[in-house]
Amino acid sequence: MNHKRPPVIAGNWKMNGTSEMVRQFSESILNNVWDENLKQCEIIVCPPAPLIPLFCENASQAAFVVGGQDCHSSESGAYTGDVSALMLKDVGCNSVIVGHSERRISYNEINSTVKLKASAAKKAGLTAIVCVGETQDQKNDGETVEIVTTQVLESIPESASDIDTMIAYEPIWAIGTGKIPKINEIANVHNAIRGAVAKSKGAEVAERIRILYGGSVKPDNVAEILSIDDVDGALVGGASLSSNDFWSLCTNAAKLFAMLSRKV
Ligand code: PGA
Repeated sequence: MNHKRPPVIAGNWKMNGTSEMVRQFSESILNNVWDENLKQCEIIVCPPAPLIPLFCENASQAAFVVGGQDCHSSESGAYTGDVSALMLKDVGCNSVIVGHSERRISYNEINSTVKLKASAAKKAGLTAIVCVGETQDQKNDGETVEIVTTQVLESIPESASDIDTMIAYEPIWAIGTGKIPKINEIANVHNAIRGAVAKSKGAEVAERIRILYGGSVKPDNVAEILSIDDVDGALVGGASLSSNDFWSLCTNAAKLFAMLSRKV
């Protein structure tokens, strides 16, 4: 984490949750005291599409923002089951995850698909959280940096900037498994991602763009992961379903950021 880039904690509920869960989650977050540290963090919750409006109703009071988990690249049309970026914006989202590995794998989304979705998000006024990450085999073969930087370069629109884009590095083998890469491995990949962004978007965008880590982030490992200079936040799956865990994660990130900011 770097004091110049406010941290982001984004919770991805995936295909989990009910309206009752949204109510309980929002209430318990509201019951916590929002100290000044937490206000420095950007907290995003990405529920399944049907729960977004209910979440948005509660979000403004609870000081988090709401994001989608995916969007179509078109604004509207005959795409049964899909949701457009404009629709997400219309119901109150400020961001959307694109290119999550679960979508890349289950729906054959490739980098060019992800790029179109990220462009649609930008056009609709949403921040795209562009996910990248290697498989276990690719890691074993020493291909991580090459795979991930290629995904970054091919998935991010030409016109993308640090304002409308974040990157989430999520090793596929770390998602939902309780395994995480070694700290120096995360540092190395994030540094390579920032380098790739510098090459394609220039040094200033690279310096400001937020690069999140995702894959088995929990309240007890978040501080160690976020202590890495080039890690600007976390994309959290399982632990975002519990308001207590999610709250601890956000609080730990905020404390770390406040400490860093005091040092400069
Ligand atoms: P996890 O999921 O935190 O449950 O590992 C992360 C993700 O898929 O974004």
